[in-house]
Amino acid sequence: MLVRVLGSAAGGGFPQWNCNCENCFGVRTGKIKAIPRTQSSIAVSSDEVNWVLFNTSPDLLAQLAAFPALQPARAIRDTAIKGIVFMDSQIDHTTGLLMLREGCPHQVYCSDMVFEDLTTGFPLFNMLKHWDGGVDRHRIPLSGESFAVDTIDGLSFTAIPVTGKAPPYSPHRNDAHIGDNIGIKIVEVSTGKSVFYAPGLGEITDDTRRLMSESDCLLVDGTFWSENEMKKVGLGNKLASDMGHLPQSGTGGMLEVLRPMKKPRKILIHINNTNPILNEESEQRLKVVAEGIEVAYDGMEVEL
Ligand code: MLT
Ligand code: MN
Ligand code: ZN
Repeated sequence: MLVRVLGSAAGGGFPQWNCNCENCFGVRTGKIKAIPRTQSSIAVSSDEVNWVLFNTSPDLLAQLAAFPALQPARAIRDTAIKGIVFMDSQIDHTTGLLMLREGCPHQVYCSDMVFEDLTTGFPLFNMLKHWDGGVDRHRIPLSGESFAVDTIDGLSFTAIPVTGKAPPYSPHRNDAHIGDNIGIKIVEVSTGKSVFYAPGLGEITDDTRRLMSESDCLLVDGTFWSENEMKKVGLGNKLASDMGHLPQSGTGGMLEVLRPMKKPRKILIHINNTNPILNEESEQRLKVVAEGIEVAYDGMEVEL
């Protein structure tokens, strides 16, 4: 199985267009050692011919251009994307679907809550009906049974609901529901190798911890270093937990969660532009590295 990181930043990307925090200003001007990143998405394949896309970021067209395997050019109109899976209905994870309108109908897999958001508060699915019917929507089961993506033979998927937040535009932003955010375990059927992907992970339940510990590789929430990071850089009062993200530092933080897990390769993804770990020379980045944890970057490939 090959996992290709198409984008590794949280909403806004890195640098964010209107931001002059230390990181954004620093990477724009070359004053810090850091690399720009687009908004988070991965592509996964077992045969490197047919791919499943996880999330469609607003940066999708640039991400496709940077990864030629997704355009095999076998016909006048072609794509290697066989299915699209949504982890939530956030703008940074769904907007790119509009950019794929010329290829409708798409096979889209999402939870009922995400389906509701994308047909009400942000009615992407309704709009796309005007392009060859838009999406063929498939319901992701949340009760622990695995599901398949049509025409993808070698991979099996199991979703787990995770604690997070519905997007700010959602009719139920402040009324959490099972399925607002999910994590997914992707298993290659022939080898049994697995990767767990959860770009938004607000709390680690026992079920989540078990699934993570058993996986061969984790690509998990790297949004914030600290609970009050936004406040610290002067960008409002929202806490990481208000936004449904578990910070890396502090008691019960991601570093502590990951430390006892001996099996998986550990990678942080969906990194917010305020996070000091983006600066490769920061003390926080060195701490992460010392824990044996990697920081995802655009174009990173994980072979399992
Ligand atoms: C989040 O996951 O909280 C988002 O990245 C926020 C956003 O898209 O602005
Ligand atoms: Mn996000
Ligand atoms: Zn910034």
